Amino acid sequence: MEELRRSWLSKLLITGYKSRRLRSICYRIARISEGGDFYSSTVRTILPLYHGVVVGAYSYRECTAPGVFPAGVTVGRYVSVAAGVRVFLRNHSVDRLSMHPFFYNKELGYVTEDTIPSGTLYIGHDAWIGERAIIAPGCKRIGIGAVIGAGSVVTKDVPDFAVVAGAPARIIRFRFSPEIQDAVLKSQWWELSLQDLARNLKSLTVTLDREQLTANALLVARRVSSERAPSAGEKSEASGNVAGTDVN
Ligand SMILES: CC(C)(COP(=O)(O)OP(=O)(O)OC[C@H]1O[C@@H](n2cnc3c(N)ncnc32)[C@H](O)[C@@H]1OP(=O)(O)O)[C@@H](O)C(=O)NCCC(=O)NCCS
Repeated sequence: MEELRRSWLSKLLITGYKSRRLRSICYRIARISEGGDFYSSTVRTILPLYHGVVVGAYSYRECTAPGVFPAGVTVGRYVSVAAGVRVFLRNHSVDRLSMHPFFYNKELGYVTEDTIPSGTLYIGHDAWIGERAIIAPGCKRIGIGAVIGAGSVVTKDVPDFAVVAGAPARIIRFRFSPEIQDAVLKSQWWELSLQDLARNLKSLTVTLDREQLTANALLVARRVSSERAPSAGEKSEASGNVAGTDVN
């Protein structure tokens, strides 16, 4: 079963999107008929096909708006991207006679090839990017579970689980101890569908500490063995470890 929602109009909307005149209406119908940014499968087909942007399941807001993120951006699953976030994958040519895009951007009709290559950016699963943050070309990777403060200017890669803020953005702290970071990475909880996670709400709605490493292990155990997951009311301590992680 498909994890996301796909309306019966999906194929038509994807084809219709080719026409610039129909773009906005096709996008809106897809979004509305499939439950919005979180769930729309058609939007996740349109974005890579026509805009070169890959967006994982349940990620939302600015990353799913067509044409806002440049081609070359890959967004993981469960990513929160607040309003006004902008990504730049290349700079103007500061060391040439002119910096004007006429002289590096082939789409403007003067040069036959782009003379400044555009980079890429990967935004890790469950990252949270605050309002109006700017991601500059020096940043190629925003880590899994990383936090970018509102209004920050990010010029370098952001490690997994780091909280960064300011212009230029600096690390304020890490969300978790190294031990917990390791366990969360090994759990790969973000690979689970929302339906599966909803059966383990308890482990997702409390502060993650040593105790909760065990609860987190439940998610993985469930995924691997596809056993019946415990309901929110059952004791999470009953489970085994995350593969390779000592939780005692
Ligand atoms: C980054 C953020 C999560 C940090 O929250 P926090 O862990 O509670 O951090 P604090 O408020 O304790 O601040 C810690 C330090 O970072 C600084 N700081 C926090 N957020 C900052 C920001 N956005 N830009 C610059 N500096 C920031 C604080 O001034 C403080 O500095 P100090 O230690 O020199 O006094 C939060 O400030 C933020 O920006 N949230 C984004 C909100 C948003 O955009 N929401 C959109 C809707 S989804």
